[in-house]
Amino acid sequence: MYVHNLNCGWLQHDFVRNRFRLEDADDVRKVQALGVAEIYIDTERGLDPDALPAPAAAPKPLTEPLTKPRTKPRTKPLTEPLTEQPPAETLPARDAPAIHTHTKSASRLERARSLHREATQIVRGMLGDIRLGKQIEMEKVEPLVGRIVDSIFSDQDALLPLARLKQHDSYTFQHSVSVCALMTAFARTLEVPREKIREIAIGALLHDVGKARVPDEILNKPGKLTDAEFDRMKNHVVQSKIILMATPGISPIALDVAAQHHERFDGTGYPNKLAGDQISLYGRMGAIVDVYDAITSDRVYHKGKPPTEALRKLLEWSANHFEPRLVKAFIRSVGIYPTGALVRLESKRLAVVQAQHGDKPMQPKVKLIFHTAGHYLQPDDIDLRRSQDRIVGYEDFADWNIDPLRWLPQ
Ligand SMILES: [Fe+2]
Repeated sequence: MYVHNLNCGWLQHDFVRNRFRLEDADDVRKVQALGVAEIYIDTERGLDPDALPAPAAAPKPLTEPLTKPRTKPRTKPLTEPLTEQPPAETLPARDAPAIHTHTKSASRLERARSLHREATQIVRGMLGDIRLGKQIEMEKVEPLVGRIVDSIFSDQDALLPLARLKQHDSYTFQHSVSVCALMTAFARTLEVPREKIREIAIGALLHDVGKARVPDEILNKPGKLTDAEFDRMKNHVVQSKIILMATPGISPIALDVAAQHHERFDGTGYPNKLAGDQISLYGRMGAIVDVYDAITSDRVYHKGKPPTEALRKLLEWSANHFEPRLVKAFIRSVGIYPTGALVRLESKRLAVVQAQHGDKPMQPKVKLIFHTAGHYLQPDDIDLRRSQDRIVGYEDFADWNIDPLRWLPQ
């Protein structure tokens, strides 16, 4: 076949050109080792697998490409997955990357992605409305929060990893959605009744609405804030409370989350320097989640800390700022290596965390994808509780030029 587009950067492959003819099994093996999910072929310059008679034992062709073909009409997406039951002599299993077939499993991730996208847009619109002096529309907030809570309860490993991946330009909106998702998972771990969790989640989604009244220059200032600017920034909590108190249908629980998320257990927070039990459970939870999400996110002025480092910080700060019992429960809810994180194993292989075992936070289920020697592996799901291998550290996707979205739990 004639390859029209390998769907990966030229740095990732060692073919001389981006477009070339696949001459033999060695070439096929090289393409497989790239780990690309889909390639495009030019059927005018090479064979068309659709036009060939299928051999009796041929695998069922993949009928739906991963994405809509964007190439010229004379090219078409490869319709056969390279790795489905290949003849052993031509396509050895070892280096062959699996191609996601995106059937039932894709819809799980896709549903979570569209919910996340929609939630971010609703929050963006809401903050815009508040800037224009309009009220929060609870008829939009309530169904959205209902869907987020349902999503976390049915499958928290689908939504939480997305909440960790933020674009730089919409931090405030995405932070609100992340805090909402994380607070729901946290409250669930604490076995808070579901009706209350809904209120907690509403407060979490709206906790920073007061930022609509902070000028953008201060919100997005790359450098250190002056004292006056910092005061203005801190005032967002008071503004959140004012806005929410003017919102019909807001519960005291939601109000507590928003009004107390910057209070600290030792009384050093703001705006009211509340301490210990003066801060409601919901405010104490909100403080932990808000800090965790803020320090793990990339911002204009700093790169996000790895989750492991963030949890270490939270534990350290729980000596005074946070309630230690709650920090430990929060760690149980997100895991030490959160779902969606890239980890390095003792065997020098990289894996993406797929699911947590609440009682064994160091031994989640993972998908092996890459060898630190520099090549993709045949993806393989392993449960570290039942493996000799173990996690030795957290890795950054960007350092390995690996797309995190591709390896999220399907
Ligand atoms: Fe805040």
